[in-house]
Amino acid sequence: MHKKSIEIHETAFVTSTFRSLNEDLSRDVYAKLWGNSRTNVLVEKYLNQVCEEEVSAHCLRNRFFLEEIERLKPEVLINFGSGFSMYPFLLNEHMINVEIDKKEVILYKEEKIKEFQKEGKLPKRTIYFIGVDFSKDYVDVLLETLKTIKGSKSSFILIEGVLFFLSRKDTDKLFELFSKLQEEGDYVGSASFQNDLKNTQGFKKLLDFCNNEMIKTEASDWQTIEDDFYTKNKNYSLENHQDYFSLSKKYNNQVKLEKDLILNEKFYILKKIV
Ligand SMILES: C[S@@+](CC[C@H](N)C(=O)[O-])C[C@H]1O[C@@H](n2cnc3c(N)ncnc32)[C@H](O)[C@@H]1O
Repeated sequence: MHKKSIEIHETAFVTSTFRSLNEDLSRDVYAKLWGNSRTNVLVEKYLNQVCEEEVSAHCLRNRFFLEEIERLKPEVLINFGSGFSMYPFLLNEHMINVEIDKKEVILYKEEKIKEFQKEGKLPKRTIYFIGVDFSKDYVDVLLETLKTIKGSKSSFILIEGVLFFLSRKDTDKLFELFSKLQEEGDYVGSASFQNDLKNTQGFKKLLDFCNNEMIKTEASDWQTIEDDFYTKNKNYSLENHQDYFSLSKKYNNQVKLEKDLILNEKFYILKKIV
């Protein structure tokens, strides 16, 4: 029998490799630091079996959130499920960064970043690394830690490439935490897939790939999220809503495949209103 072998942290290596494959589009000149041969094989397989346009999709996602954060100029950037994304090094050096992910991902990232900085491959930045599993009991301790770091400073919370792997219960818990932590005028950037995508060839291939290759995460049925999860949140207003096609227009990316084959992820910028 085929043995499932892809662990959740490997999806973060895959995302970084996608970003490194078109630096002009992603503007992530540091993603290539995470490159390794096991991920290259996985990326090849994923592009062949799921969708070859995933490189552009991930580059556009990085570019969009990077430029939104640059435009909104928060004092603190808090990245939930940060994986190996490199925003701290692509953004203003005065920004305070908080990177949150599973403990093993965070420990590895922190150690490697120190190594890259020693070798002169990365500039110095203020980064707090926090290891947390969003499917466990973590809220009170994390909230206190984040309140201490954030104080009354303005913030942008980013959660991208993560919600697909979480249950709705754990997602609700996260958005409640965001609201408790943030003040009026603060921002959240989020990315997720909608349910109707499940009827497309592209998404069916993604689910086949995940069901066949991935070691199961907490969420049993790969989460999708409708617009009203964002529009009906009483603590936030939806300020900006994009998807792969609108970002392709914005950043002059040529869409090559037919719509049915593309994993059209949706991107949301929310502003805290109360
Ligand atoms: C596809 S990667 C995306 C990483 C990063 N946000 C990016 O866009 O480059 C998914 C990330 O979510 C993290 N993740 C998934 N489930 C998690 C959980 N229950 N608790 C904490 N982190 C989780 C994984 O460890 C991984 O780093």
